[in-house]
Amino acid sequence: MNYRHSFHAGNSADVVKHSLLIALVQALQHKPGALTLIDTHAGCGLYDLEGDEAGRTGEAAQGVLRAFADRNPLLNDYRAAVNAVNGGNDPRLYPGSPQILSQLLRPQDALILNEKHPDDAYALRGAMRGTPAAVHERDAYELWLAMLPTRTPRGVVVVDPPYEQTDERARITTTLAAAHRKWAHGVTVIWYPLKDRATHRRWKEQLGKLGIPKILCVEHWLYDEDQPGIYNGAGLFIVNPPYAFAQGLPPLLESLRAALAPEGHRGEISADWLHD
Ligand SMILES: C[S@@+](CC[C@H](N)C(=O)[O-])C[C@H]1O[C@@H](n2cnc3c(N)ncnc32)[C@H](O)[C@@H]1O
Repeated sequence: MNYRHSFHAGNSADVVKHSLLIALVQALQHKPGALTLIDTHAGCGLYDLEGDEAGRTGEAAQGVLRAFADRNPLLNDYRAAVNAVNGGNDPRLYPGSPQILSQLLRPQDALILNEKHPDDAYALRGAMRGTPAAVHERDAYELWLAMLPTRTPRGVVVVDPPYEQTDERARITTTLAAAHRKWAHGVTVIWYPLKDRATHRRWKEQLGKLGIPKILCVEHWLYDEDQPGIYNGAGLFIVNPPYAFAQGLPPLLESLRAALAPEGHRGEISADWLHD
């Protein structure tokens, strides 16, 4: 486990992932029933954008700082979540998914966080002190299945691995199949990097064979031509997205594309069902 999210916090993928998480949870909260939110790969919870690690990559300049330079009101909720950890000042701290999810909690909701790396789990406990979140230090795939079905009738599982292991996609496919058998109506969000189109197409075909009827596939391609062998963007598979979320997605995706388009590129961001 070499991956450290502190090098990448607030990059363009975080902006899209965290914006969509906020919209998804808010859509589920149109109903008063309690939600259980589970973050299987939680990271540290809070990141210093002016720290050594973030400074070495400078990725936040292409992500959260672009979202703040943009004035589109559809990004207001995302900017508010970042502002909440910065006291309204320019973003210096970046809230990871645990912080963002905890900001959304209503009294009836529960938050379960998991992080396997001991240093990051320690940082996570510190970042979440004073919140109602439960923090675990287990293997993500073991915890994912162990927590299902959730204690509340509705819930969201967020799966955000670093894809360092060559079998990461296979582990997700197997665990998602087992999770679906235990919790067919549950909402699951799976983040993935987009490198080459062939790998992504093969994975989509495998997920399509699981027989899960409702998987929304969001893809954010940053550049107008693929850059071979490098990171070309990222996306999310969203199992059982609520109707209000899926309906409101096109204008939010367009605002994200426009805010995050690299110099000289338009980029592309789409949302399509895995099964038509
Ligand atoms: C991309 S980061 C998570 C970022 C976070 N979800 C966010 O949006 O702020 C992935 C995290 O997963 C952790 N991790 C990697 N493999 C894991 C495993 N098998 N079980 C639990 N955590 C794992 C890494 O240590 C890392 O902190």
